[in-house]
Amino acid sequence: EHLALWGGRFTSGPSPELARLSKSTQFDWRLADDDIAGSRAHARALGRAGLLTADELERMENALDELQRSVDSGAFAPIEDDEDEATALERGLLAIAGDELGGKLRAGRSRNDQIACLIRMWLRRHSRIIAKQLLALAVALIEQSDKAGRAVMPGRTHMQHAQPVLLAHQLMAHVWPLLRDVQRLADWDKRIDASPYGSGALAGNTLGLEPVAVARELGFTNVTANSIDGTASRDLVAEFAFIAAMAGVDISRLSEEIIIWNTQEFGFVRLDDAYSTGSSIMPQKKNPDIAELARGKSGRLIGDLTGLLATLKGLPTAYARDLQEDKEAVFDQVDTLEVLLPAFTGMVATMTFDTERLEAEAPTGFALATDIAEWLVKNGVPFRHAHELSGACVKIAEERGQELWDLTDEDFIAVFDGFLPADLAPQVREVLSTEGSVSARNGKGGTSPLRVREQIVAAKTAVETL
Ligand code: ARG
Repeated sequence: EHLALWGGRFTSGPSPELARLSKSTQFDWRLADDDIAGSRAHARALGRAGLLTADELERMENALDELQRSVDSGAFAPIEDDEDEATALERGLLAIAGDELGGKLRAGRSRNDQIACLIRMWLRRHSRIIAKQLLALAVALIEQSDKAGRAVMPGRTHMQHAQPVLLAHQLMAHVWPLLRDVQRLADWDKRIDASPYGSGALAGNTLGLEPVAVARELGFTNVTANSIDGTASRDLVAEFAFIAAMAGVDISRLSEEIIIWNTQEFGFVRLDDAYSTGSSIMPQKKNPDIAELARGKSGRLIGDLTGLLATLKGLPTAYARDLQEDKEAVFDQVDTLEVLLPAFTGMVATMTFDTERLEAEAPTGFALATDIAEWLVKNGVPFRHAHELSGACVKIAEERGQELWDLTDEDFIAVFDGFLPADLAPQVREVLSTEGSVSARNGKGGTSPLRVREQIVAAKTAVETL
C-alpha cells in the first residue's frame, strides 16, 4: 500500500518496525468523516480548476458518497498496512472509483494541509459540544443558587471561618469561571476559523486551486494567510488544550469543595444516591466518586496540555512528523470532558444542602468580628483601632469559650472605653447577626441578598447570550 503513496523512488516498503511506529489509524480514524468532507470540497476545487471534467467530478462525488456509507456502516475500516486515516481512505477510494479516477484526487493537496485542516474541523465541532455541557453545568449551579435563596453559610479563607456569605454567593463563585471557559472557547473559535486546505506540503499549490471555496464548504470563514503557518502551527490546538485543562481545573476546585462539604464533620451537602457510590466492604459508605474522578481527571487534562506544549517546543517551522502527536492529547481531553461533564452536572443538579446546619455554622468562629470593626468605623473610630478593639472582643469570647454575641453590655463598654460613649457601646449588637452581616455587604459583587439576586440574573443573561 505504501507504493500507492510514495512508491516512485523507493525500492522497498517500510520495515515492519517502522510501520508499527508510524501507524496512527488506531487514533486518527475518528477524523475519517472530516477527511471525506474535505475530499469532496477538494474534488470540486479540482473541477473548477479544470483538472476534473464534469463527468469525472460526478463520479468522484458518487465514489466519496459510497465510501462515506461504507465507513458509516463499518464495512470499510483501516487495515494493518494503512499508515494513517488518509492512507486508508485513499485505499478505499481507489477500490471504489478505480486507480484512474481515484488517483486524481491527490493532486494539489498534501497530507500536511489535510491533517492540519481536519484537526481544526474536529476540534471546532467538539468544542461546541463541550461548551454546551459546560453551560449545562453552569445552569445547574445557577438553579441551585436560585433554590438556596437567602440561606447563609460560613464563608472561609485559608479554610478558616472568615465572614458569613450566602450559599448562593459561594455557588455562583463557581459559575463565573465556567462561563469564562465557554467565552474562551467562543473566542478561540474566531481564531481557528481558517482553513489550511490549499497550503499543500508547505508552500501552496501550482494547480490554480482556490482555497477560499474549499474553506467555505468546510465551514470556515477564512483561509490561513501563510501556507507554512497553516501546515506547521499547532498553537490553536494547544490553546484548545489550555481551555480544556482550565475547565478541568475549575471543575476540580468545585469537586474539592463538594468532597469537603460532604464529610461527616461538615455535613453541609448530601449527594443523591444515583450520583454516589458505595464500598465493597463497608456497608455504611456513600462516596463522592464523581467529584473525586473529576478532581483526578483534571490532572490528566493538564498532562495532555503540557505534553502537547513540550512536543511543539523547538520544532523547525514547517511540517515535521512530531506534529502527528498533537491529536491524542486533545482527543483524550475531549473524551474525558464529554464523559465527565454530564455525570458531574447530574451530581450538582441533585445535591441537597443542610441549610439549617449551614446557618448555624455561619456566624461561629467569630465570623462577625469584621462587622464589629466596621461598625466602630461607622461610629468614627479609625480602622486601626477598630480592628484592635474587635480583636479584644474576640479574645474575651475565646477565653470564655463563648461567641461574640455572648459578651455583656459591660464587656462592650469596657472594651470600647475611650473610643465610644458607654450608652453607645452595647448597640454594636445590631450588627451581630448573620443576616445583618450579609445584608450590609451590599456593594456590587457583594454577598447581600439583593446583590446576589442581581448576580444570578446577570449570569442567566450571560448563559442565554453565550
Ligand atoms: N499522519 C500525519 C499526521 O497526523 C500526517 C501525514 C503527514 N505525513 C508526512 N509524512 N508528511 O500529522
